[in-house]
Amino acid sequence: MAAKTKTLADLFHETLKDIYYAERKILKTLPKMARAAQSADLKAAFEKHRDETEGHVERLQQVFELLGERVQGKTCDAIEGIVAEGEEIIEEFKGTPALDAGLIASAQAVEHYEITRYGTLKRWAEVLGMDDAANLLDETLGEESMTDGALTRLADASVNESAIVA
Ligand SMILES: [Fe+2]
Ligand SMILES: [Fe+2]
Repeated sequence: MAAKTKTLADLFHETLKDIYYAERKILKTLPKMARAAQSADLKAAFEKHRDETEGHVERLQQVFELLGERVQGKTCDAIEGIVAEGEEIIEEFKGTPALDAGLIASAQAVEHYEITRYGTLKRWAEVLGMDDAANLLDETLGEESMTDGALTRLADASVNESAIVA
């Protein structure tokens, strides 16, 4: 019995479902991280990225439309794990000077996961000749990278230093 042939288009569709699930999970998680953050700047950064994440979900919905597929997520174990570790940090470091440094670390793990997914999807969209989809994915990729950079700057500017002192 021959296995059904699967192509890059199938892989693209499956990975789109993965990141769609992840973005919706992140949308629910960022407000919790904003509430937990002690630094006003970090709180603001999480709130800003929550708003951007709404746009990421919408862009993915547009990509599903371009594919002619229904909008659908598929459980992403990677994001579940990254978010669970973040929740653990909130619990274990609540009320300590190291909390914000830990929040930044887990937020950057999320951003890097998104960056790898969007980087791959954008390339595949290009190869598949889906230029409109590639542009949408590239816009989000840019915002994920900016967020990652902003978090690094916050960590360098004050958060890491203030986490050292008890
Ligand atoms: Fe995102
Ligand atoms: Fe993000």
